[in-house]
Amino acid sequence: MPAATTSVRNARLADASAISQITASYAGKGLMLKRPVENIIEDIRNFFVAEYQGKVIGCCAVAFYTERLAEIRSLAVVEEFKGARIGRLLIEKAESVLGEEGVREVFVLTLNPGFFGRMGYKDIDKEYFPQKIWRDCTNCPKLMACDEIAMVRKL
Ligand SMILES: CC(C)(COP(=O)(O)OP(=O)(O)OC[C@H]1O[C@@H](n2cnc3c(N)ncnc32)[C@H](O)[C@@H]1OP(=O)(O)O)[C@@H](O)C(=O)NCCC(=O)NCCS
Repeated sequence: MPAATTSVRNARLADASAISQITASYAGKGLMLKRPVENIIEDIRNFFVAEYQGKVIGCCAVAFYTERLAEIRSLAVVEEFKGARIGRLLIEKAESVLGEEGVREVFVLTLNPGFFGRMGYKDIDKEYFPQKIWRDCTNCPKLMACDEIAMVRKL
């Protein structure tokens, strides 16, 4: 099983193009927001990658809002490895690092509530996260027709 021999580690600059390719494939299907490679490079210290046999097969990123509140975003696993517990490994790693930082609440905005429900996240009203609205949503083309579901988990 890939999950047993997959390691999740902090992303390095050299992973940026692999991350960009993975996220772009799902952004093209409308499943997540497109992040240009320059934006991924700028944010590389906040990314984690899952590596299997020397290849990056998944990624996620964290974003901090307050000393207690953070977001997990840009979660994706390459198509051929979906369903092999790689997404779970990525979330567990990100949550563990956030917990060590003192974060107590993690939220996601997602079109895949089934997966996050399985990870212990609960639906919550988007208005609960005004910080997110100020920072990202104002630049999003979907602003007035946002179809993402907000979910939260207490660490
Ligand atoms: C969402 C995604 C990252 C999940 O990664 P994954 O490696 O396929 O998922 P896992 O195998 O780790 O699944 C973990 C658990 O969630 C469950 N699960 C996965 N997808 C699910 C879904 N859509 N609905 C309900 N449960 C789901 C699995 O059955 C598994 O349960 P278990 O560990 O208790 O047996 C992956 O499917 C993906 O890249 N999707 C496209 C991009 C995307 O939607 N990203 C999220 C944007 S916020």
